[in-house]
Amino acid sequence: MIRVVKGTHDILPDQAVAWHRIERAAHKLFCRYGYREIRTPMFERTELFARGIGAETDIVSKEMYTFVDRDSSSLTLRPEATAGIVRAVIEHNLMNTDPALKVYALGPMFRREQPQQGRYRQFHQVDVEAFGIKSPSIDTEVIDLALSYLRACGLSDWKLVINSVGDAKCRPAYVETLRTALRAQAARLCADCQRRIETNPLRVLDCKVPEDQAIIEGLPRISDHLCADCRDHFAEVIRELDLLAIPYTLSHRLVRGLDYYVRTTFEVVSSDPTLGSQNSLLGGGRYDGLVKELGGPDIPGIGFALGMERLVLTIPVLEVEPRCAVFLAPLAAGALDHALRLQRELRHAGVTVLMDHEGRGLKSQMKRADKLGARYVAIMGEDELARQQWTVRDMKGSTQETLSLDRVADKLIERILGVIKQGQARVD
Ligand code: HAM
Repeated sequence: MIRVVKGTHDILPDQAVAWHRIERAAHKLFCRYGYREIRTPMFERTELFARGIGAETDIVSKEMYTFVDRDSSSLTLRPEATAGIVRAVIEHNLMNTDPALKVYALGPMFRREQPQQGRYRQFHQVDVEAFGIKSPSIDTEVIDLALSYLRACGLSDWKLVINSVGDAKCRPAYVETLRTALRAQAARLCADCQRRIETNPLRVLDCKVPEDQAIIEGLPRISDHLCADCRDHFAEVIRELDLLAIPYTLSHRLVRGLDYYVRTTFEVVSSDPTLGSQNSLLGGGRYDGLVKELGGPDIPGIGFALGMERLVLTIPVLEVEPRCAVFLAPLAAGALDHALRLQRELRHAGVTVLMDHEGRGLKSQMKRADKLGARYVAIMGEDELARQQWTVRDMKGSTQETLSLDRVADKLIERILGVIKQGQARVD
């Protein structure tokens, strides 16, 4: 038997209900904030991610699915959405027509990480990006949108963590200060951190190794090394969060795993124990230099991405939705044609109908109707066939009545949709 590839998973029909719910919530809510959907390809030139995300990041150096195409070009399955969206914005000059461009995307991403609960090699993100707005008020709005989305999906138990990582003006000096402090402690740090001192010292702040924690807490903090512009920007974001009564926790260690961030960075972590260590529901921040770095104009950007698998694992379990409103049980051989006609008429009117195709007995059909959550079962045995009528059983009221062939559809439509069918009236 061929099994699913390690780190990938099927979304089965019973689970798809929750996925539809969070997808619908995204389309509805993001539209209210002025975002429009963008869909970019699932693979891009490898160089886009190397330049966009940073060659020294774990994502680029260890986790990308890269392959050489038949024309020898190097392609990579997208590990995240931001770089591809930025490419599309530049390639199609989207900023020319909309100087405050807001887009969102939903879809699969690929990272070759060690799979565990909440961490997969193919996973899905909801991604939101706003371009062209310098003001800190877009930072607050993007954060507010992320939290509103969690609420719209039925989630209320989370923590917003926020930081400023400075910009090209102040961060290089801080990174050097940090490196110097780290070199002095190198021997006491884990092997990964020792390597990061030279390659990417900021990543040390993200280390989870227990023995390193005391040292990391004593390191110089970026908040003490921000330039005046970054400090003012961050202070305004914080002021606006307070204004909107959005609770947050400041964390000087929130540096995130992608190199494009400047100034505001944020994450929302869940306290749901099902997620274990993979408790980051979403993460994002500002990336003001990225559009330019990828060959576009010098415009700012900010956004976030949320892991859809993690959200589905934490949202309240939904009640199982009925699979049909009406179940047709044509018991007599000659009842099939009536069932096919009735089924079609009901479906055209907007009613969800399922029927038995195999001529099973009444008992097994009733069992099936019950399992599907049908509100009404229409039965046609030999007697009903001879009298040209259906017996319609109300599964909730446990009552039943007989309805003639010409009345049955109208009656069912009226009861289920609450409308009286008039002529060709259709319900979409
Ligand atoms: P990220 O923090 O790498 O940011 O990923 C965002 C979210 O995707 C995480 O918080 C997590 O929920 C989910 N995620 C990441 N990796 C996995 C995985 N292997 N399995 C399951 N879920 C995962 C970004 O991707 C940035 N592009 C976010 C952004 C957009 N920043 C600005 N705009």
